[in-house]
Amino acid sequence: MVGAAALRHPTWPLPNVNGDSASSRLLLGVDYYPDQTPEALWEEDSRMMAEFGFTNVRIAEFAWALMEPSEGKFDFAWLRRALQTLHKYNIAVVLGTPSAAPPPWLTAKYPEIVEVNALGAPLHPGGRRFTCPTNKTYRRLSLAVANEMARAFMDAPGVIGWQIDNELTLSSSPRCYCNYCRAGFQEWLRTKYGSLDNLNRTWGTVFWSQAYTDFSQIPVPLPSGGDPNPGLALDYNRYQSYANTSFLEEQLAVLRKTCPRHFVTTNNVGLPLDLIDLRSLYEKLDFVAFDNYPGFFEMLLHEQTKSGSVSWDYIYTATALGHDFARSLHGKPFMIMEEQSGKAGQRTFSPQPDKGQLRLWTYQAIAHGAMGVNYFRWDTANFGAEEYWHGILNHDRSKSRGYDEIKQTVKEVKALGPEVLNSTYPAETALVFDYDCDWALQLQPGHQGLSYMTQITSWYGSIASSRSGIDVIAPGADLAPYKIVFAPVVFVLSEAQAARIKAFVQNGGMFVSNFRLGVKTESSQMVRTPLPGLLRDVMGVTVEDYVPIYSAKHAVKFSATLAGPDGECGIWADILQPSGAEVLGTYTSGGYAGRAAITMNSFDKGKAVYIGADLDAASLARVLRSLSASAGVKQLLEAPAGVEATVRRSGGKQWIFLLNHTDTVQAVNIPGPSTDLLTGEWLTGTVRLSGYGVRVFEVS
Ligand code: GLA
Ligand code: ZN
Repeated sequence: MVGAAALRHPTWPLPNVNGDSASSRLLLGVDYYPDQTPEALWEEDSRMMAEFGFTNVRIAEFAWALMEPSEGKFDFAWLRRALQTLHKYNIAVVLGTPSAAPPPWLTAKYPEIVEVNALGAPLHPGGRRFTCPTNKTYRRLSLAVANEMARAFMDAPGVIGWQIDNELTLSSSPRCYCNYCRAGFQEWLRTKYGSLDNLNRTWGTVFWSQAYTDFSQIPVPLPSGGDPNPGLALDYNRYQSYANTSFLEEQLAVLRKTCPRHFVTTNNVGLPLDLIDLRSLYEKLDFVAFDNYPGFFEMLLHEQTKSGSVSWDYIYTATALGHDFARSLHGKPFMIMEEQSGKAGQRTFSPQPDKGQLRLWTYQAIAHGAMGVNYFRWDTANFGAEEYWHGILNHDRSKSRGYDEIKQTVKEVKALGPEVLNSTYPAETALVFDYDCDWALQLQPGHQGLSYMTQITSWYGSIASSRSGIDVIAPGADLAPYKIVFAPVVFVLSEAQAARIKAFVQNGGMFVSNFRLGVKTESSQMVRTPLPGLLRDVMGVTVEDYVPIYSAKHAVKFSATLAGPDGECGIWADILQPSGAEVLGTYTSGGYAGRAAITMNSFDKGKAVYIGADLDAASLARVLRSLSASAGVKQLLEAPAGVEATVRRSGGKQWIFLLNHTDTVQAVNIPGPSTDLLTGEWLTGTVRLSGYGVRVFEVS
């Protein structure tokens, strides 16, 4: 299918390995550390991986010290031997460039490459990702080792692609505040604003006597006696994102030049982390690859909330959102570069996933658009900071409890074949995710409980119980393909985005937003017009007041259009004055009793809905689902709570993936008779899904 000449094919960039036909090879692999494994075991590992059914490994992304034992002296002999052993067993290789973990000789000689954290304290070598993304020495040395690696392995049999670095920005300090970053920021600002006059005006530096008379005076947002200028602080997030992306792109340029037949990607955690603008990071890469650890994430949330009160459906919802975001980045199948394969954690660790969950998570990724999965990791380290991060083999190299389940899953997924895995993911609904809104709201939430990520996740989970048919798009995306666009907390709104929304509604689309709409300009100034600013005509309302809510209890009564029990209003209320919009919900208590809480405006051929109240989960789900239905979005089937039902399509065919995230049996009515592709069972009418069960079947 994919010949050697087309190795940078958008989704299946796989070469012939060992004369084996490329069409039968999928990216179902494992993250492997020959650098941490005695050489005597490589052969056994490779043989076992082949027997397991793995097609590929990802290796070497932390092996800088072995590849360059002293500055400018490269040694790839060990890696070449590892590749030869893997190749002997027909295991293809994704090579990682090692810049996330510089060796001790490097930091001893160039101590200035370390990152400085948000308190102004330097990080220290000894962990990983302690580096400054701007520092020229770190960049030069990262590029040098990537370049030597590329030259060493450009023609190596079995090598199919590259992962640049590892999880950029993911460290104890996601931002660097060092002097190199400060100078880099000043340069970046000079390009962005052209003149100091422009910058001073755009940020409003007359406030607190901050007018800059030279670019070199501009600070980074380290602790001061008061909060930083919001424009500066938002720009600093953008700069840090840019610095990391341009760091990656330096290595990308080298790999493109030296290894034109290989694919190039990177791994990040994706949503729900929001540390770097992933749209820019992945823009020039061949496809999106990211790391997915639902069990570890659940453990972290439990630790953070102390009370352990994570809603039962939060994890699978946030995971589905992450997958939809990854697919939407390039609008094509993505890969999981690291998928949890057992107990996971560093100082503390999550429990072993329940029987069936590892398989379920793999199918969840595929159901939302993945074309490949790599499990983390093959064996479990007996040393180093990740001794608790369990792999497919235990510390004593016995099989882990997940071993057979993952093996069986790999076999099943291979049997599904490239047609399903390369298929598209149809979506009639869009959810807007905007880093500017997220970062600006983190700086000035208005209410401690108001978080952009939380709002996005709860809206995502409310749109459809099936979690299906949703693209997660950028504020600059084309809205025309969608029937309905949901955009919660559009705190920052650009003129271009407002114009796109207006045109979308004029042409018959339905736009749904909520409180804090259009509050800020792109430079994080408050707009000078009544809210919702640039969208006042489209929404057909004026925000008369905006109110954070602490202890007061407020409720919302719905009109006949949204009929249902009264909803609770949580932490925020925008009080709406309609100017043409129909009132769909009214506050029932407090000083604003009787005032509009939810409105719908007919604007040209479309509709615009303003949800001023922070609705409780059940009311929000009811309202968003009813709006979706009124916009003409059809669900292929009714999914019970805890069950996802997504669709993938290719040519005239479409497949439904049913995923049960509960540990109990669920019953689902399917649209027509079909055969379960995983079990061969004939399915008709009401189908039974076992706890954590999965079904995949074709529907006409
Ligand atoms: C991340 C990293 C890996 C490893 C795993 C487990 O996603 O990319 O190097 O650290 O998590 O911690
Ligand atoms: Zn720095």
